[in-house]
Amino acid sequence: MKTILITGASSGIGAAIALLYAHKGFMVFAGGRSQERLADLAVQHENITTFSCDLTSKESIENLSLNIPALDILLLNAGSCEYINDALNFDGDLFARVMTNNLIATGYCLDAWLKLVKPNGQLAITSSCASFLPLPRAEAYGASKAALTYLAKTLAIDLKPHKIDVSVINPGFVQTSLTDKNTFKMPCIITADQAAQYIFKGLSRKSSEINFPKRFTYTLKLLSILPSSLWKYLASKMEKGA
Ligand SMILES: NC(=O)c1ccc[n+]([C@@H]2O[C@H](COP(=O)([O-])OP(=O)(O)OC[C@H]3O[C@@H](n4cnc5c(N)ncnc54)[C@H](OP(=O)(O)O)[C@@H]3O)[C@@H](O)[C@H]2O)c1
Repeated sequence: MKTILITGASSGIGAAIALLYAHKGFMVFAGGRSQERLADLAVQHENITTFSCDLTSKESIENLSLNIPALDILLLNAGSCEYINDALNFDGDLFARVMTNNLIATGYCLDAWLKLVKPNGQLAITSSCASFLPLPRAEAYGASKAALTYLAKTLAIDLKPHKIDVSVINPGFVQTSLTDKNTFKMPCIITADQAAQYIFKGLSRKSSEINFPKRFTYTLKLLSILPSSLWKYLASKMEKGA
């Protein structure tokens, strides 16, 4: 039986991926913080073992009493989003919170679990297409995701001799509790189940970048090659129209 460990699996994209892999016959270790949501997930498939842990605490990860066997896939997907609504009165605590939750916690997960990935196994990190170009109010979220992309791409080089493939996952908008808070228009939004299908397909192919939905991510990639002054102009127009 193949094994996958997924963080951020108590809701949204992670929960949908956990269920999909369980249905595909994988043994799934699914992490989150909410014990209630994890219990709801565990009852949906016998292949799913859940664990509750705040990944910003290295000690809590180390104290987990989990009997994790060698992993075929380690998918670090947990994350959160908060916006900087007033750039001039920059909220350093918010910035630290987002960077800790999205970036530093990923480092703790790598510390704990990367060594469990088998040769010919896979590491995947959920970044975001927000990492492609600077988006309004995304000083914290976008910076954390750009750093995760860099981290994943660097690991792809350094893990090659260990025969571990690395994928960076860049979703566009996906309907989850993370985006439920957004009050602006979210073009090309898809469901968490659709996102899980894209991720499954991408990981099965061992793609180094898993970008979806294509019509949205191609548009952002194109915009990202514009001269920065032109993008700054367009982004400020976009912000005013939001
Ligand atoms: N939705 C989108 O449009 C979108 C787009 C691009 C990228 N992403 C990325 O996709 C990933 C999943 O997001 P989602 O949309 O599925 O959001 P979500 O439904 O809010 O799920 C976030 C998951 O991460 C877990 N989590 C967050 N902080 C954690 C922590 N400190 N310790 C342990 N678990 C933690 C949450 O656990 P609890 O709820 O149990 O606390 C939950 O399981 C995130 O990395 C997000 O940045 C999402």
